[in-house]
Amino acid sequence: MTDSTAGPQPGDNEPNGDLTSGLSAHAAAVGDEEPEQPRHRVIGTPPPAEARTLLKTPPPGAPGGPPVPRQRELPADPDDLVSAKRAERVVVACFLIATLAGLGFIASYLIFQVHSVTNVLHSNLALGSTMGLAFLALAVGAVIWVRRLMPWVERTEARKLLRSSPEDRAAFAETFEEGAEASQFTKRPMVRRTLIAATVPVALAPIVLLRDLGPLPGTSLDHTVWRKGMRLLNYGANTPIRPADFASPGGMVTVVPDGFQDDFNALAKAAVIIIKFPPNIIQFSAKPQPGRVVQNWTVDNIVAYSKICTHVGCPAALYEQTTHHILCPCHQSTFDAARGAQVIFGPATRALPQLPMTVDAQGFLIARHDFIEPVGPSFWERGPS
Ligand code: FES
Repeated sequence: MTDSTAGPQPGDNEPNGDLTSGLSAHAAAVGDEEPEQPRHRVIGTPPPAEARTLLKTPPPGAPGGPPVPRQRELPADPDDLVSAKRAERVVVACFLIATLAGLGFIASYLIFQVHSVTNVLHSNLALGSTMGLAFLALAVGAVIWVRRLMPWVERTEARKLLRSSPEDRAAFAETFEEGAEASQFTKRPMVRRTLIAATVPVALAPIVLLRDLGPLPGTSLDHTVWRKGMRLLNYGANTPIRPADFASPGGMVTVVPDGFQDDFNALAKAAVIIIKFPPNIIQFSAKPQPGRVVQNWTVDNIVAYSKICTHVGCPAALYEQTTHHILCPCHQSTFDAARGAQVIFGPATRALPQLPMTVDAQGFLIARHDFIEPVGPSFWERGPS
């Protein structure tokens, strides 16, 4: 027989119905006391706290509740799953190749020492090919991934108005005015004026510094120091030259204007080369024209050209006697000396200007006058002249 006042004891294995009836009897026995809630044994994982709380979360979309989940807009998988599986294998293969090639690059760098030209060639070949293969495999894998594994959908999105709403603009204006007032910028004119005065020199400073670029060139690029009657001096020896000083044709001599042999600013434009030709080589003309040497400006088959390359101004200092080619060593512009120093190869677009020349009473070579066109780089011109 069970004692009804004892209540359930730990370890009781009675069914819940018996236990409940026992508890009811116990409550009746204690009279006015609050009846105890039936206690259940919990088996397994308790439900989440949210399910047990009395403060229920409002449903999605309701005030205070979570937002309504967006409907999915992109499909999760491509249409053809079998084809996608094949593509996946190809992508994986590409990425594996890229991995191996990348490791090969590192290994090549460590293995190939560059102590000789041959080793450098081998090293460059190995580094370049492994790096190229790594990038190629990565790119191919990425392209296949995008085109074959990702869902193929076309999406458009309407453009939103970029302009702020009237409310936002009004709020901004109000904030700006508040800030201006709070900064005292409008109320304290001395502060405002001195601030403006302080910024003016700062803004002018870069303009003043432009003066360091030097004076404006004006027309100085159009002229050199060569003048009528100025002797041509052999550069270095600084001696005047007679046509007879050329023992045999074929040579090239650098000459400078008498009086300016030590003026490097002047020589930067006025340096000249003179070339003695054998008879019947020069293509003459009476007036300046492309591809021709002005006959009246030569003396005894000696022609004078500007030495300043018309590309970017290097000295055109190499001469090939058999072909009569003047070569600029900087970018290999080549000029045909027998044909008015016209360009036959390279980036220059303009012939070397010819210096008008004659002889004075003592038989020395002198200039008739300055060049009739600018010497040196003609970067302001477009295309061949
Ligand atoms: S400066 Fe002569 S070819 Fe460039």
